[in-house]
Amino acid sequence: MRQVLVLNGPNLAQLGSREPDVYGSQTFDELVETCRLTGRTLDLHVEVRQTDDEAELISWVHEAASARLPVVLNPAAFTHYSYALRDALAMRTAPLVEVHLSNPATREQFRHTSVVAGVADGTVAGFGLMSYQLALQAIAELAAVQEAAGAGTVSDGSPP
Ligand code: DQA
Repeated sequence: MRQVLVLNGPNLAQLGSREPDVYGSQTFDELVETCRLTGRTLDLHVEVRQTDDEAELISWVHEAASARLPVVLNPAAFTHYSYALRDALAMRTAPLVEVHLSNPATREQFRHTSVVAGVADGTVAGFGLMSYQLALQAIAELAAVQEAAGAGTVSDGSPP
């Protein structure tokens, strides 16, 4: 079964009580469960993580890059200003889908910029938990295409 990391940035563990009018009333635990169940239907083993710490999030991206693991990422506020996160993401070779629960394009001006979007395969925003389900669907498709093209397997270091 293909492994996928679903990484979440700051303040997302507070879902449910955090601005429910913007982010919905479902909790982070419900987000985790939704991702796991969606993964099961797509034959993906989904591991969901959350951190408020930029360094920890970057270390997870490094881990994904060296293991060539596909990533669904909600960078939360880091989306809008973390060049360090963007640089880490630029190293990965497996699929990356950026997700947002809300639609940042309809919100404050500072949310209209994503420094991550340029290194992602695509972005899903504005659909609440469904953003994650759609992102996982995209990951399943992209990873299958990449694997069929022979780029999805971890190299043993020998020349092609
Ligand atoms: C968010 C949107 C960001 O602008 C915000 O900082 C978040 C959550 C979303 O999922 O809608 O923390 O990424």
